[in-house]
Formats: sequence, structure tokens, C-alpha cells
Amino acid sequence: MKTYNIPEISNNVFSVGAKDLTRRMFDALIPLPDGTSYNSYLVKGEQRTALIDTVNPGFEEELEAKINMISDLEKLDYLIMNHAEPDHSNAIRFILEKAPNALFITTEKGVNMARLYHELPEARIKIVAGGDNLDLGGKTLRFIEAPWLHWPETMFTYLPEDKVLFPCDFFGAHTAQGIYDEDIEDLIPFAKRYYGEIIMPFGKMGVKALEKIKNLDIKIIAPSHGPIYTNPNRIMGPYVKWTAGETENKALIVYVSMWRSTLDMVRTIAETLLKEGVDVKMYDLAISDIGDVARELVDSRAIIIGAPTVLGGMHPLALYGTYLVKALNPPAKYGVVLGSFGWGGGAVKQAEEILIPLKMEVVGNLQVRGRASDEDLKNVEKIGRELAQKMKT
Ligand code: FEO
Repeated sequence: MKTYNIPEISNNVFSVGAKDLTRRMFDALIPLPDGTSYNSYLVKGEQRTALIDTVNPGFEEELEAKINMISDLEKLDYLIMNHAEPDHSNAIRFILEKAPNALFITTEKGVNMARLYHELPEARIKIVAGGDNLDLGGKTLRFIEAPWLHWPETMFTYLPEDKVLFPCDFFGAHTAQGIYDEDIEDLIPFAKRYYGEIIMPFGKMGVKALEKIKNLDIKIIAPSHGPIYTNPNRIMGPYVKWTAGETENKALIVYVSMWRSTLDMVRTIAETLLKEGVDVKMYDLAISDIGDVARELVDSRAIIIGAPTVLGGMHPLALYGTYLVKALNPPAKYGVVLGSFGWGGGAVKQAEEILIPLKMEVVGNLQVRGRASDEDLKNVEKIGRELAQKMKT
């Protein structure tokens, strides 16, 4: 028989999800350098037992075994779904088949989203709304609608007796390390990277969600990815800043270079900015982990794109990077686009056009033919000084 570690995170509240130590990609988009976890929680009241969220495909039997080590899955009373994305909702059918009397509980939006992915036993669905309570006997589950974090149906569940908040993806981190936040010294960079990848495009909804929970007494935050926070302020503080779009005096440079011309330009602007006291983070898109780029987008005040022209448009990797910047909707206020070409330009204009919806002020752009001359690099320096000046104000 397999043995599992089942942390009791509070009295009769157990973490029964799974760690995915070797997964290296999420959504066919997001690199996972350190794996992830799919956290699921079993809450045992005096009369009834509830499971909050489930696990990714492939981990159903681990979830079943863990539940049966501390309870009896067949007698489960409620399955709560905070979020319909399959990394948490995948085992809904599996659990409802094993627990024939369990009711499936979520919001109306939740049911509608879950139906897109799963065949649900309609007679066992119980719809709840924000503010509703579910009594387990000595433990109450209170539901808080927190939509668009990052799907339309997202909700939080709060357990007032134990002061535990279950916010699903919100406050999450893709790492399989540790159980509690204090186990991981460098946790916040993981959480920041996750915020940039998943929540940042919905930052305004994040502000609303924080407003909804600001008066709750929270002792433990139990998200659906990564460690459980027994020090809630460790993640609450950064989330207040990130959702508000607070930026640092920092410029993020993402670039591609084929024959060093664009590289000379971005190096020149990096040196200029550093000399002016601006923090600089620079990523070559040909070899970088885009999760690192997402992390730096969270609080960079300026974004510099370096893009050579290939076959009449941006180098495909620069196009990908620029599109990603636009999609993640970072709070940066200023932009610069630099690039080079051999016989026909176009990359710089194309990059600017992609960035238009972000409402960033494009402080300067420069496109050179062939290698950047000394005069070209002087012009880059000038753009850098102007950018540094604007970033201070
Ligand atoms: Fe972790 Fe949006 O699912």
C-alpha cells in the first residue's frame, strides 16, 4: 500500500491534493521549472464532510487514497468547486461516482463552466451564491464570489471557525516544493511569476477580490497551487501592490538578435539606464523562460523591445514576446522599441502597433539598417536618458 503525507493544516482540515514534481509545462505555454501542485482540501465537520476542489488528470487515485486514509470517500457529503479549470475540476465525476450521496456545490457560473468540461449529475447540483453558508457541524463553509481570477466563475471558500481562506488560483504559486510558506525561502518570486502569468491580466478583478476579503479574519491561506500560507501577510502584502499596478524604477528589456545589431542597441540602452540609476532586467527571447519575463513584467515601469526584421516583419520570437507582453497587460507606463534590418524594415512599426492597446507612452524608437553605427548608438543613449528621466517622475 502506498503511503502519503496528508498535512492537517487546521483541526480536521486536511490537504489531500497531489504534487506534480516532474511537470514542466502548463497550458502548453507556461514553463514549470519546479513542478506544481494541485491542492485539494478535506474539511471534516461534526456531522458532514466536504471536499474543496479536486486534482489534475492522472492524480484521481492518489486523491481517493488520501481521502480514504482519513475519512470514507463513499460517505462524502459535499464536493465544492471553486474553479472549473480541469487542473482542479478534473476529478469531479470520479469523486461523485465514488461518493454517491455527495452534492456538487458551486455558483451558477461555476456550473455553466463545469458543464463545458464534464457530464454532471444534474440532480445532485446545489447552486450557491456569494455570502451563502454551508453548515458541516461545528464548521461552516462560506462562499465568496470572486469572478475573473482568471476565469469567469472563480470563487473563494472561507472557513470562519478555523480562519482558513481557500482562494483556488489566487495567491497560488507553481512550485512543488514545501507544504507551508515557511518551508520556502524564495517563495515570493515563484508567487510573483504565477501572478504575472495567470492573474495580472485581471489585476482590476484582483483589487475587487482583495476588497471583498479585507475584513475577514484570515489565519491560513490555502490556495490550489503551491504552499499553504500560515503567514498570510507574506502574500497579501505583495498582492496589494501587484494588483494595484505599483511599479519599480525598473526597465525590462526583451529582445532577439541575429547578427548583433539589435543586441548592440539593447546593450547600449541597458548601460545608459543603469548609469541613470534604473534597475534593468534583460532577457534574450531565444533562450529565456517566459515565466521569468512574466515575473519581471509585474512591476517594471518600462518595457524595451528589441526586434530585428525577418522577411518583412518582426522576428517570430520577438513577435511572440511582444504579443505576450500585450496579452499579460502589465502596468508599465513607458515603452521603447529598437530594431535592425538588412534590406526592408517593418519590425519596429509592427511592435508599436501591437503595444497600442496597452496605452504605454512610447518614449522612443529606432530602426537601423545593418550594424548600428556609433551615431545610431548615441541616439539610443539619448532615448535611454529620456526614458530614465520620465521613469523618475
Ligand atoms: Fe489552477 Fe485556473 O487553474
